[in-house]
Parts: sequence; structure tokens; C-alpha cells
Amino acid sequence: MSTPTHSGKKRVFSGIQPSGEMHLGNYLGAIKNWVDAQYDNDNIFCIVDLHAITVPQDPQTLHRRSRDLAKIYLAAGLDPSRTAIFIQSHVKEHAEMAWLFNCITPMGWANRMTQFKEKQAEIKERSSVGLLAYPMLMAADILLYQADGVPVGEDQRQHIELTRDIAQKFNHDYGPVLKVPEAWIRSEGARIMSLQDPTKKMSKSDPAGCILLLDPPDVLRSRIMKAVTDSGREVRFDESRPGLLNLLTIYQLLSPPGTTRQDVERHFEGQGYGALKKELAELVVEGLGPLQRHFAELSKDEGHIEDLLKNGADRVRPIAQQTMAAAAAAMGLG
Ligand code: TYM
Repeated sequence: MSTPTHSGKKRVFSGIQPSGEMHLGNYLGAIKNWVDAQYDNDNIFCIVDLHAITVPQDPQTLHRRSRDLAKIYLAAGLDPSRTAIFIQSHVKEHAEMAWLFNCITPMGWANRMTQFKEKQAEIKERSSVGLLAYPMLMAADILLYQADGVPVGEDQRQHIELTRDIAQKFNHDYGPVLKVPEAWIRSEGARIMSLQDPTKKMSKSDPAGCILLLDPPDVLRSRIMKAVTDSGREVRFDESRPGLLNLLTIYQLLSPPGTTRQDVERHFEGQGYGALKKELAELVVEGLGPLQRHFAELSKDEGHIEDLLKNGADRVRPIAQQTMAAAAAAMGLG
């Protein structure tokens, strides 16, 4: 049923929408984890531009952001010799498979998606049919490649549950064609919160609460110094103080690998929020420095990025075509 990878390693698929500037939540919840595990797995990382157009986009901006996102993937440390990086719309099978899934997914399953309900409440009558169909396109992304694991942040859990349900329904109704994937969600960093309202996740739609990966050092520092914290003095990981918990989580994740919560608490023993913010600001500036410099380097040769994206799509297309053909035949198409 599954397609073994050449290496016998697990196949991993994930993606990000090129619909805004990338922030620390995208980095700590997704990209950093992809980079950390890239030599353990067989990786496919996508720039999901077809998802981005479920809400209105300026065409030129979308095109630029897709290339910028590819540069972020590389600048964060993904190694293109080990990882296929491509733009979703370059592999036509995503849209084709999504149609099959639109036709087998009960309306009730799609209507239950909380991200759809939130988005629809926000943009009301401007909501497109594509917004409702968004999760079936995401299922197509993952299932086309027979992925074992999908490394994402917490907010994508429900979409991956739906993907599993769609795979199981397809296999039950038409025969065993699709691998049922698993969500790979880390216990720490899966939900980085807004710096202005730590009860909400850090999100492209709330720029004030965001730390953007390409913000200059003075902006990074000022965002962190202005972060909302809770009353209290002791610097401890404390679920009842979400602002502090968020800052400490970011601090831990940007510290050297293996740093525990106890290490961080010990480090700040006897110190207050001011010391934490100051040190965190420097850690973020230092932590993002190499990524920012690498991004600037990559921007000098846009032709190289185009080649890399074309090569990425050429590498993954045969896998998508094979699954697409098997699914279409199983449904009696053609
Ligand atoms: P998107 O583009 O909203 O976010 C990309 C990734 O960043 C994670 N993320 C966060 N993690 C921690 N804290 C946060 N505040 C935070 N904000 C975002 C997301 O969980 C995600 O991993 N539907 C997806 C894109 C997609 C996809 C796929 C993902 C399309 N097809 C197939 C995986 C597999 C989305 O909108 O992510």
C-alpha cells in the first residue's frame, strides 16, 4: 500500500502558505523542526500557493512571496540535495486529487473544520468555495506522496485528522491506495503565542503580536521588550502566566539543543522579567542573524531559486503521478 522511499527512511511532507511574511511561530512550530530532522527522513516541503488563493491575493505579491518562502526554507538550513522544495501549483496533480477528495468527503466533515469557521466568520460574504475545499487540497498534498509523517504546529492537527479520515474512507470505498499519515507535532513550540495577546496564537493576521523572521534587529528587540507579560515576579514556566510562558518557551527553543525548562529556570533564578526580555531579545537577534544573512545572499541570484524550484517539482512529480493514476483507476476514471 505504501510507496517505500529509496532510502527506507520515513517520508515527510509539509507546507506553508506564501500568504504573508514568515514569523517565529512558523519557524519554531514547523521549519526549525524540519531542518533539525532533515537527515533522518526523506523530505518533501512545499510552498502551497493554491492554498493561498483561497483568500484574495495580489498576483505579483503572491509570486514574490512564493520565491521568498523558498529562500526562507533554504536560509533556515534545509539542504536541497536531501530535500525536495517545490511550489504546489507546479505539480498539477494536487488540484486534480483535491477534486477527487471533494467528491468523496461528506459536507459535514468539511463544515466541522474550525479554521474554516474562523476564517468564514472573519471574511463573511467574501468567503470563497475554495475556503471550504481547503482541507481536501491539503489532504491531496499529503496523500499524493504517501507520506508517513506531517510535521506541523498544533493549529494543523484537525486538518491532518481529516486527511486520515479521507484516506481511510478512500481505501475502504475503492481499495487500498493511500497511506494513512500521522501528524508529527512536538510537545514544545507547537503553539507560539502572540506577544500582544498571549491567549491567541502568533499569526500573520496580527502583525503587532508577531516576530517576523526578516525583521531588522532594532525591530526584533523592541517587539520583545514591548511583549505583554503577566503580574508576578518569579521567572518560571507557569501555565497560569501565558505571556511569560510564551517568552520562556521561545527562549528554550532558541537555546542550544538539549536545554531543558529546568536549565532555563535555573539561569534566571533571582532575576525578573526585565532580564528575561533583554536576554531573549539578544538570543532572537543572534538566532535569526544567520538566516537573515543567508536570505540576503540568496536574493542576489533569483535564477538559482527558479532552477531549484523547477528541479524540486521535477523530482516529486513522478510520485504524485503514480498515486494520482492509482486513485483515478480505483475510482473508475479514464
Ligand atoms: P500555515 O501556512 O498557516 O503555517 C505553516 C506552519 O507554521 C505552523 N504555525 C505555527 N506553529 C506554532 N505556533 C504558531 N503560532 C504557528 N503559526 C503557524 C503551522 O502549524 C504550520 O505547520 N494548512 C497549512 C499549510 C498546508 C500544509 C499542507 C501543511 C497546506 N498543505 C500539507 C502540512 C501538510 C497552513 O495553513 O499552514
